[in-house]
Amino acid sequence: MLAVEDIHAYYGQSHVLHGVSLTVGRGEIVSLLGRNGAGKTTTLLTIMGFIAPPSGTVVYDGRDISGWAPFRVSRLGLGFVPQERGIFSSLTVHENLTVAARRGISGEWTLDRIYDLFPRLRERAANRGSQLSGGEQQMLSIARALLLNPALLVLDEPSEGLAPLIVRELIAVLKQVQAAGLPILLVEQNIHAAFALAERHYILSKGQVCYTGTTAELRADEKALHSHLGI
Ligand SMILES: Nc1ncnc2c1ncn2[C@@H]1O[C@H](COP(=O)(O)OP(=O)(O)OP(=O)(O)O)[C@@H](O)[C@H]1O
Ligand SMILES: [Mg+2]
Repeated sequence: MLAVEDIHAYYGQSHVLHGVSLTVGRGEIVSLLGRNGAGKTTTLLTIMGFIAPPSGTVVYDGRDISGWAPFRVSRLGLGFVPQERGIFSSLTVHENLTVAARRGISGEWTLDRIYDLFPRLRERAANRGSQLSGGEQQMLSIARALLLNPALLVLDEPSEGLAPLIVRELIAVLKQVQAAGLPILLVEQNIHAAFALAERHYILSKGQVCYTGTTAELRADEKALHSHLGI
């Protein structure tokens, strides 16, 4: 469904991605792991069109979308939840959701279904984004992406900064999203969340993929966990 092939990326003179390749198949959850500064966010920003790769390709559903503008990538069906969450802090939860619903195409993810998936957001519907806890903000950010009715969900460290109990809730929600048939490209530093959700993993180090394997393979590979992730 998504095939990233040998992409490079630069910030000014600084060469950050050195030929990253990865794939996500239909119905799959794939994780992209790596330490701080490994290039995870840069990879996602390149996929989503915020950074144009000087070389390499991003192919989605058989179409070369490398260098497409973000709004076109998103319209094609890639729903992005950025690391900084990107919710409107001065709007209420309900307003945040209706803005997203209006932007998206209609489909199975309706406002009612979203409130069923995130009961906490229904309770907090009248609260402003700025009044939410970190976990609630993350749920709102994912809810907004789902309302666009994407065909692939791209998440940048959804568990970052969340308490273990909230991470567990998040995992349960994402499992339901996958069960509904939506594939997910998941950037994580929380290995437990990655193992609970994804069946395949890529580890990035210094802008290169240094390991790929299934959950069973990576779980058993103490050397890879230690040298690439410091676990
Ligand atoms: N806007 C920018 N300008 C210059 N360098 C940047 C910029 N954003 C990131 N970098 C650098 O690019 C490299 C990769 O950063 P990136 O944000 O992709 O890493 P990451 O794996 O997402 O890290 P984290 O887990 O901390 O979010 C790092 O060395 C970082 O310092
Ligand atoms: Mg990042």
